[in-house]
Amino acid sequence: MADNKPAILSVFGKEIELPVLTPTAGPDCLDIRKLYGQGDVFTYDPGFTSTASCESTITFIDGDKGELWYRGYPIEQLADNSNYLEVCYLLLYGELPNESQLKDFVARVTNHTMVHEQMHNFFRGFRRDAHPMATMVGVVGAMSAFYHDSTDIGDPWQREVASIRLIAKLPTIAAMAYKYSIGQPFVYPNNELDYASNFLNMCFSVPAAKYTVDPALAKAMDRIFTLHADHEQNASTSTVRLAGSSGANPFACIAAGIACLWGPAHGGANQAALEMLQEIGTVDQIPEYIRRAKDKDDPFRLMGFGHRVYKNFDPRAKVMKESADEVLDLLGIENNETLKVAKELEKIALEDEYFVERKLYPNVDFYSGIILSAMGFPTSMFTPIFALSRTVGWISQWKEMLSDPQNKIGRPRQLYVGADKRDYVPVANR
Ligand code: SDX
Repeated sequence: MADNKPAILSVFGKEIELPVLTPTAGPDCLDIRKLYGQGDVFTYDPGFTSTASCESTITFIDGDKGELWYRGYPIEQLADNSNYLEVCYLLLYGELPNESQLKDFVARVTNHTMVHEQMHNFFRGFRRDAHPMATMVGVVGAMSAFYHDSTDIGDPWQREVASIRLIAKLPTIAAMAYKYSIGQPFVYPNNELDYASNFLNMCFSVPAAKYTVDPALAKAMDRIFTLHADHEQNASTSTVRLAGSSGANPFACIAAGIACLWGPAHGGANQAALEMLQEIGTVDQIPEYIRRAKDKDDPFRLMGFGHRVYKNFDPRAKVMKESADEVLDLLGIENNETLKVAKELEKIALEDEYFVERKLYPNVDFYSGIILSAMGFPTSMFTPIFALSRTVGWISQWKEMLSDPQNKIGRPRQLYVGADKRDYVPVANR
């Protein structure tokens, strides 16, 4: 912890004082806001590996210890004792709700799960084989064309309404994207069901047959939502904050977050990880893939492995691994080859110097696909499920940014290494 003395930076002989900001937990921060004005220099940090973009009270990650807290509560305790909507309340408002607060919050979310009936037409404009993430980006962005009474970001009440609408409607939109992709009719939300059961019902029930949600699967689904709810200033959250800093409406900001999450280096890794495990196929094929992952000339990476922040295990991956055993057992799936490959791959990788040296461990995406696949979801639905889970984190961070008195439009600078100033040459002289 700093002794509150400023850091002194000597820039071309000029000494510049940089205040040291001390956090509740984590590294101290050098406040460089005045650096360009006083020293006429920028800092350079592509990928923001050493840069704090904001002050936040929502989520804390200790990458060395493998810790993740939502509003100070360790993720393991929330995964074991809480549920997703209670975690949504915690992330949005900062404290765990009492019984009446939770009851009221659940009722508000439950009563916003339907989407405007005309939004059904949007889906019919997509090809049936469109990736559900493409559909979600489009339809969530289009919410700003329907819910005009919650797009004024200057009105706290409209921010609140938009937050509840997004948390409530994302599962409905994700389920509709899935149903559309398999040519089945949309299933309306059922307000008698809890959040996770409602999502499973909207995905897997059909008008022609009775469908009862297995409470144990609903609990596993709810836990997956909780594990993905927020994760500090990751790429998609930073996208939402940057979009929101321009004053864009909440639906446009969340659509931007969904688009960023889709990338295979980020939320798209859960789909890529399961496809990789299925491509490996059997345990005896693992050494070849480990070799390829280490080969600098081969673009192949172990999907679901490594993390910008976690240089120890990802606590979510540990919970997810336990959950994978439980869900497969519950479904009576024995000797799941993919799970066997995943566990053996993790074991081999964690004994291999390349991965140990680079502190590469399984992340949240390594086991999640095994559970979702066992539940009956196609790989194309893995990232939409991540997106609907993360919506509460995105919207909580968006609200925090808007209420931050230091909030201003995000506008990074650059290290320009292009052509020096030069005069135009007419085409005849080139
Ligand atoms: C998520 O930020 C978040 O919080 C994200 C997230 C969230 O909840 O929001 O946690 C969700 O996105 C999890 C990460 C999902 N992505 C994957 O599983 C894709 C595979 N992993 C990598 O692409 C990579 O590990 C990243 C993108 C996750 C992190 O990349 P970094 O921090 O930029 O690390 P790096 O690319 O600089 O790698 C450091 C070294 C390199 O080798 P050297 O150049 O030092 O020799 O490790 C190697 C990399 O080549 N490396 C890997 C590897 N990940 C890193 N080598 C093989 N397989 C991998 N998976």
